[in-house]
Amino acid sequence: MAGWVRVAKLDECPPGELKGVTANGVAIVLANLDGTVCALRDRCSHDDYPLSDGELDGGDVVCLYHGARFDACSGARKALPAIRPVDSFPVEIRDDEIYVDVG
Ligand code: FES
Repeated sequence: MAGWVRVAKLDECPPGELKGVTANGVAIVLANLDGTVCALRDRCSHDDYPLSDGELDGGDVVCLYHGARFDACSGARKALPAIRPVDSFPVEIRDDEIYVDVG
């Protein structure tokens, strides 16, 4: 359980929103998809800008800077200019607190 880190309260990342957090020095973007919270590395694979500056569109995180899209839960790349996925992390909700396993 050493990798699990509390990163935010659940109400700090409401449905339809992104939130940037840090866990053990790793920048993470949380995405709340209608109550399901997912976590990706907060660094776009196109040009390293933070994905947390972008927005959630359905199940996709859309990068603010050049429009790349990633699956908000798996990190799979869905649109150019990115050509690589981003890392995803396991998430658990415990007593209305969000925990992420950063390994
Ligand atoms: S930095 Fe994200 S699309 Fe370019």
